[in-house]
Parts: sequence; structure tokens; C-alpha cells
Amino acid sequence: MEIIHLSAECYPIAKVGGLGDVVGALPKYQRKLGHFSKVVMPAYNNSFMLQNEFEVVYDAWGNLGTRHFPVRIFREKTNKLGFDLYLVYIAGLTDRDRVYGYEDDTERFLAYQIATLDWISQWEHRPDVIHCHDHHTGLVPFMTGNCEKYKSLRNIPTVLTIHNAQYQGQFGWDKLHYLPAFDLWRSGLLEWKNDINPLASAIKCAWRVTTVSPSYLEEISYNANGLESLLASERGKSAGILNGIDNEVWDPQKDPMLEKTYSIRTVENGKKANKAALCDVFNLDPAKPLFTFIGRLVGEKGADLLPEIFHNSLAHSRGNINILVLGSGDPEVEGKLIELKNWFSGNYNAYIGYNEKLSHQIYAGADFLLMPSRVEPCGLNQMYALRYGTIPVVRRIGGLKDTVVDIGDGGFGICHDQTSVGDVGHAIGRAYDLYQNKKHVKEILKYTMQLDHSWDKAAQQYIDLYQM
Ligand code: ADP
Ligand code: GLC
Repeated sequence: MEIIHLSAECYPIAKVGGLGDVVGALPKYQRKLGHFSKVVMPAYNNSFMLQNEFEVVYDAWGNLGTRHFPVRIFREKTNKLGFDLYLVYIAGLTDRDRVYGYEDDTERFLAYQIATLDWISQWEHRPDVIHCHDHHTGLVPFMTGNCEKYKSLRNIPTVLTIHNAQYQGQFGWDKLHYLPAFDLWRSGLLEWKNDINPLASAIKCAWRVTTVSPSYLEEISYNANGLESLLASERGKSAGILNGIDNEVWDPQKDPMLEKTYSIRTVENGKKANKAALCDVFNLDPAKPLFTFIGRLVGEKGADLLPEIFHNSLAHSRGNINILVLGSGDPEVEGKLIELKNWFSGNYNAYIGYNEKLSHQIYAGADFLLMPSRVEPCGLNQMYALRYGTIPVVRRIGGLKDTVVDIGDGGFGICHDQTSVGDVGHAIGRAYDLYQNKKHVKEILKYTMQLDHSWDKAAQQYIDLYQM
């Protein structure tokens, strides 16, 4: 099959969170199954563009209503990513330093979607499926199905994967004229709660809808930021497919970013060396268990509670645990996490910012990874942690519920029910007790490191879904 993935993020070109990891891996694993997967994404201002070889495959004008803009689509020439990569460059719109967070994000992502469809509609052949990821690509199913300009694309199946229903990309009707012409009586397919809502529109118009874990599919029937009833009515065409991880990028035996690589056989010494290196850099005590949090510092991840949780645990443990945070997001949370350094120097540290290499080093060097998420459609961190022999301490929600089994149930992680200071504090206490039982910890690590969370299975599940 020929599969076109449309996404705002794709590792290693541009990654803000798990969406980038997924779109950088799934197409590669589909390729391994013998399919032709392509990724078409916006071209941002980043070093990938400068450091790689490209050819121009499309050079034309695009438009948002009466606003015209030059479009160039570049193909990465070497195929070294394991899939074909196309970057859509629109001067003044896609060429920014960050992926998101600009006032004109609506225009930026709409222009990218329109330019992409303008290009695909000129192809001599038709792809077998267009796979859209999240709301930044959510108007594609509507446009292929309804815009006169794209009538040649009408019968191409479209799939929407919802990585996170909290973000929907809604905007006002004053921007309707940006869309290529269509019969206005079809406008209802764009609408949700009086706005144009790209995620809602994709849920209505895509041939299939998927969520990134089975539990999240259940949960969005009662928690989807206002889309609950719509998701319930489209349930018949929906499926929950658990994300995988890229075992080639996330492999403690080969990871070039680690202080020392290690296998299941050498896990004890390997983790010890990585922990020692981390503790050295961050002024922590390598003899004490090391807890970590890696992620976006936002309410969904429970990040607002972290300062109080950390304060309590560090105070109660009287120097018997270490905590290291890697993240960025809400400035107030960032400030509080930085302030904690003054109180618990020697047992606590925080790196505020995004650092891919450090994240690998922490998965390798930490003993426990905390994920007290309020919402977690899948979560990849816990799967990386399992592969690197770090025990996940997670809330039972979404993909965390689907991937982590509590030690009390014969499993390999610590699970708690609520995102609350009390529940997480109690879970940290249980983890501390577990840490004292070295034999049990060793058994757990040997078990979790051989668990198979690779994309092999899910890549096939998507192929089956496309063919249904
Ligand atoms: P989400 O996509 O909701 O942020 P996921 O668990 O799916 O959550 O994926 C998060 C990804 O982003 C993981 O690869 C994680 O290691 C990475 N990540 C998050 N924050 C940072 C950071 N500050 N520095 C480096 N990597 C980060
Ligand atoms: C989203 C979700 C996260 C998921 C990721 C990749 O960002 O918040 O839970 O793992 O997408 O699908």
C-alpha cells in the first residue's frame, strides 16, 4: 500500500512530544512490512533542513482565500529515515523556530494542509490512504471529501489518529473563506459548538478514527474536552491501537547518548554507571534511589502538583531519595521546580528545557519514572523506561493502564488511582520500599527489559485497519 502520513511533528526533524516519536517510527515499521509510507510535514526553521540533502518536487502558488503564497515541497534524497520524507515550505508561515504557539497557527497549518492537497491532487496515481495525525491535519478529510478542487482525491480513504483530544484547533467562521470552495450546505461537517473545529471535523469525515490506546478510546466517551457525544456517535468506525516504541532509537544496548550501554545481562552495572554520571552532573547521591519526571509541565501530566509532591517526599525521606526533573511548560510550575533546588540541594535537581540526549541518559540512569497524568492518551515515557530498566510509577489512566501492571498484582510497576498529592506520595513510598528489596528489583528489570513494545504489532494493526 502507499500510505501518506500528515503530521506537524516527526522525529528527528521536529519533535515536541510523543506525536513526533510516533510519526518518526510508525512509517518506518510499515516500510518494513513492505508498504510505501511517506511523511509530509511542514518545513520549520531547523537544522535538519540545513544538514540534509533535498530536491524540490513541487513549486507553485497556494492560497488561503485571497491571500497567495509561494509553496515549495522538498524531498529528502537519501531515504536514510526508513521512509520518504517531504517538507512543505511556505515562506512566512511554516518557517518558524518553534512548531506551535504562534498567533497565526490556524493559518500556518491550514496553508500546509491546502498546499499538500494541491500537490497530491496533481499526482498521476492516487495513494491508498491518507493518515492524518491530530487537529493540525484535521481538515484534510473534509477537504478531500467535499472541496470541488480536490474531487480527484474523493475516494481515497482517510484515517484520523487522535493523539490528544484536549487540543482541537478550533477557530471562528470569519476564516471559512480560507478553505477551497465547497457546497455551503456541507458546513455542518466543519462545525462543533459554533466554531470550525478541525479535530471534530476529522472525527466526522475520516473513514476511520483511532486513538493511541484502547483505554483512551473508552475514556474519551466521558472526557474529551467537549467532544464526548461526537466520539460516541462515531464509535462504530473507531479503534484503539496502542502505540509502539522505536526499538532502534530506544535501545540501551546501542544508544550512543548513554554514558555506558547495557543489556539485560549487564543491567546492574550499566544502570549504575549511568546513574553515577547523572548524579555527578546534577549533584545527587548515587547511593539513594533516583526518581525522575520527564515531560511537558502541564496540567494534563499532573505537573502542577509536582512541587508539593516533591517537597513532601524529600522532606519526609530526610535525604534518602533523589529527584531529577526534565521538562518545560507552565512558567509558574517551572519557577516552583527551580525554587526547590534551594531547599533540597544534593537530593533534588531540575533541568528546565527540552533536551533529547539528557532524556535518554535519565531513562538509563534513574530507578523510577513518575507519571501522575490526569490524561494520558498513550504515553511513551513509561515504555522507554521499561526498556531501559527504570520502574514506572504511574496513574492508572489511558495508555498507562494498558502498559503497566502493579507489583501487587504480580506486575512490574507501581500504580495509583488518582492524580493527587496523597496518592502520588504514597506511590513514591511504595517505590522506596521496593527499592530496598534488591532481589525483587533485579527480577523486575530483567522482566521489563525484554517486554516487546516495538511497533511491529501496531504497524500491522494499522495496515489491517486501512484495508477494512
Ligand atoms: P506527550 O506527547 O503527551 O508529551 P509522550 O509520553 O507520548 O507524551 O511523549 C513524550 C516524548 O517527549 C518522550 O519521547 C519524552 O522523552 C519526550 N520529552 C518530553 N519532555 C521532554 C524534555 N523536556 N526533554 C526531552 N525530551 C522530552
Ligand atoms: C499525545 C499524548 C500522549 C501520546 C502521544 C503519542 O501527545 O498526550 O499520551 O503518547 O500523543 O501518541
